[in-house]
Amino acid sequence: MNVLVIGGGGREHALAWKLAQSPKVQMVYLAPGNGGTALDDRLKNLPITDMVALRDWALEHKIALTVVGPEGPLAAGVVDDFRAHGLRVFGPTKAAAQLESSKAFSKAFMQRHGIPTAHFAVFSDAVAAHAHLETTGAPIVVKADGLAAGKGVVVAATLAEAHAAVDFMLADGAFGSSPAGGEARVVIEEFLQGEEASFIVMCDGKNVLPLATSQDHKRLQDGDAGPNTGGMGAYSPAPIVTPDVHARAMREVILPTIRGMEKDGIPFTGFLYAGLMIDAQGKVKTLEFNCRMGDPETQPIMARLKTDWLDVLWAATEPPGATGLADMELQWDRRTALGVVLAAHGYPHTPRQGDAISGIPKETEDAVVFHAGTRLHDGVLEASGGRVLCVTALADSVRLAQARAYETVAQIHFEGMQFRSDIGFRAVKA
Ligand code: AMP
Ligand code: GLY
Repeated sequence: MNVLVIGGGGREHALAWKLAQSPKVQMVYLAPGNGGTALDDRLKNLPITDMVALRDWALEHKIALTVVGPEGPLAAGVVDDFRAHGLRVFGPTKAAAQLESSKAFSKAFMQRHGIPTAHFAVFSDAVAAHAHLETTGAPIVVKADGLAAGKGVVVAATLAEAHAAVDFMLADGAFGSSPAGGEARVVIEEFLQGEEASFIVMCDGKNVLPLATSQDHKRLQDGDAGPNTGGMGAYSPAPIVTPDVHARAMREVILPTIRGMEKDGIPFTGFLYAGLMIDAQGKVKTLEFNCRMGDPETQPIMARLKTDWLDVLWAATEPPGATGLADMELQWDRRTALGVVLAAHGYPHTPRQGDAISGIPKETEDAVVFHAGTRLHDGVLEASGGRVLCVTALADSVRLAQARAYETVAQIHFEGMQFRSDIGFRAVKA
């Protein structure tokens, strides 16, 4: 069969790469894909970014299954539309995607269903928000309500920073306008301490199948310094998620969320990503929900998956009442996978495009380079976005996976290339 992956980042390259390994898959189309997916014979890019045009294309080309990578099309209702036209698609509906697209929605949802999360208050009025900050003090966290491509969260160490964040997020024309198109809102929430992990599950509307655990590195520089980014590297599994923490996350966060969505009349289908903060006692709080897989978490997770990915997605998209994911078991490579993001000059604020990329080695059994912001320009591979590549390697320990990944990084070159040299540092045993 022919399948379609919507998106063009490193996450989508990894999803498509894994799908292409299934003997049942003839061709994986990506819309729009990137320079790396253009170079792979088993993958084909489609220059279609309009979702209605893409749906018509999928109907015409009898696409058997579509997987949606990024949050944008999900929040815009691509799943509702594909389904309404009889297409098989994995992802949440527009209503369910609010778990990610509106922080105010997801915080109210968590409160209503007793899901552990930071204390919070929501404001659309700047004066009230400023007054509230005077009662909380710092450190404090200010979040824009709508989708903000990773730029909507300010962890403020001082009240001055927090006040500035409120002014910025509630200002006219800022990105923080509500997803419903109404007035801008901010969520002000308690600062949580601990270690973060990404807990991603698949859901068919009823059954939940956890994927391997992972941890991302959100800051630009080594030692978690510098500005927040979309993610500079990730590894799987994340040892912080002990069997105990795993059971707690399922019991206290994931299952109540899926049941809660069902109860609220918005059954959840798709990937559900809970960003967890795990404290020293192993207690779990939910920092955020995403209604998609993580980028770059997907790259190491797909590198470890042994089960036929088409079979899994097929089961996950069975109609209500079928077995769905109930009997599905996933096999994982026992090794650690670790991905290092190579970002463009100026990322995250002003990424430069057009730098020519050289030295990407051929894929091996234990190292693969997933493309993100790359394109072919007159046959030359060049950077076209913030996060350019994700070098992903497998080995028997975090330290060995680091060594294998960085050995591969050393072969690759483009002007202004930025990367962290400490991916996986929290999991490296002294
Ligand atoms: P979010 O998009 O909500 O996950 O926030 C982005 C990042 O900000 C998270 O990965 C955390 O590192 C940090 N963050 C968000 N909320 C909190 C919080 N309540 N306490 C501490 N750090 C937070
Ligand atoms: N890597 C974090 C995210 O995908 O949201």
